[in-house]
Amino acid sequence: MLSLNVVGAGKLGRTLAALWHASGVFEIAGLFNRSAENAREARDFIGAGTAVSDLSKLPPAQVWLLAVPDDQIASTATALPPIIAQHPPQAGRPPILFHCSGALPASVLAASGADLLASAHPVHSFADPKRSLTDLPGSTVALEGSEEAINVLEPAFTALSCNCIHLGSSQKVLYHTGSVMACNYLTVLMDLSLQVFQAAGIDNKSAMALLEPIVLQTVKNNFALGPAKALTGPLVRGDVATVARQTGALRQLAESTDTSGAGSEATSGIQAATLATMYRALGKAALPLAEKAGLSQDARRQLQSIFDES
Ligand SMILES: NC(=O)c1ccc[n+]([C@@H]2O[C@H](COP(=O)([O-])OP(=O)(O)OC[C@H]3O[C@@H](n4cnc5c(N)ncnc54)[C@H](OP(=O)(O)O)[C@@H]3O)[C@@H](O)[C@H]2O)c1
Repeated sequence: MLSLNVVGAGKLGRTLAALWHASGVFEIAGLFNRSAENAREARDFIGAGTAVSDLSKLPPAQVWLLAVPDDQIASTATALPPIIAQHPPQAGRPPILFHCSGALPASVLAASGADLLASAHPVHSFADPKRSLTDLPGSTVALEGSEEAINVLEPAFTALSCNCIHLGSSQKVLYHTGSVMACNYLTVLMDLSLQVFQAAGIDNKSAMALLEPIVLQTVKNNFALGPAKALTGPLVRGDVATVARQTGALRQLAESTDTSGAGSEATSGIQAATLATMYRALGKAALPLAEKAGLSQDARRQLQSIFDES
């Protein structure tokens, strides 16, 4: 069994190490966190490994996961050459180094001096490591980098019931942006929607209750039918007057916020100008979809001019 060091045993690092330990994929060697308490917590969560808070105290390992925040990956790799050099290659294998950033290529690890570099991005939210232990299986992992490193990582993720895909380094930024648009921005859209309900005098709890079934149904429809067929509402129907009333209401909300001086942003959490801008921008983006769903050219032109108004 290959040994694994985890540099940055945070949410993702400790989850993957715990799953690999439980499934006998890797022998967990060292767990590094700057805080000794965090390192011990990670070790207790995983149930294996030596917790260290000094990089130079990491034991030898054949595979190294750098699971520090994205902006710290390159600088952490810079600190590794003397640490890796103090251990001879195990079983004649040069060490494999990988990180799990969605946006960065394997080459950000180049300063480590190691040759076998990879990135492996699980398309999963590790918000709560305990939940991720059961929820990760079935997720996709995007692999990129050295073939020799991927030949070790692909079976390691497959053993966790993940599906692997392969990317080139030039694809990574846009690939990750696509995932941010659908996952992170869906959450932002939810928040913007709640702000509009708040402006209408509907409290958060009631708004969440009315949104839950329709949002879940919309997500399901998107996967079952694709976005063009899942789109419903005034845009697809060509209800131009309704859309004009909605953009007008948001414009008024933004103007009343501006003239009040105090600004509702600070007092009520409503970002009125952002709501007006976002409604128009998303409306414009929806027009090609609505057209595919049967919106007439004439209605499209009228809607376009509503969204173009400042
Ligand atoms: N979270 C997700 O949902 C998710 C999903 C896919 C990919 N990823 C990727 O996984 C990697 C780790 O993300 P994460 O969410 O697990 O992060 P995280 O929970 O913040 O964990 C990062 C860990 O790194 C440690 N660390 C060590 N050196 C550090 C340094 N120089 N600066 C900051 N922290 C340092 C921190 O502990 P100390 O403060 O004790 O050092 C912390 O435990 C990132 O590359 C991220 O893009 C995350």
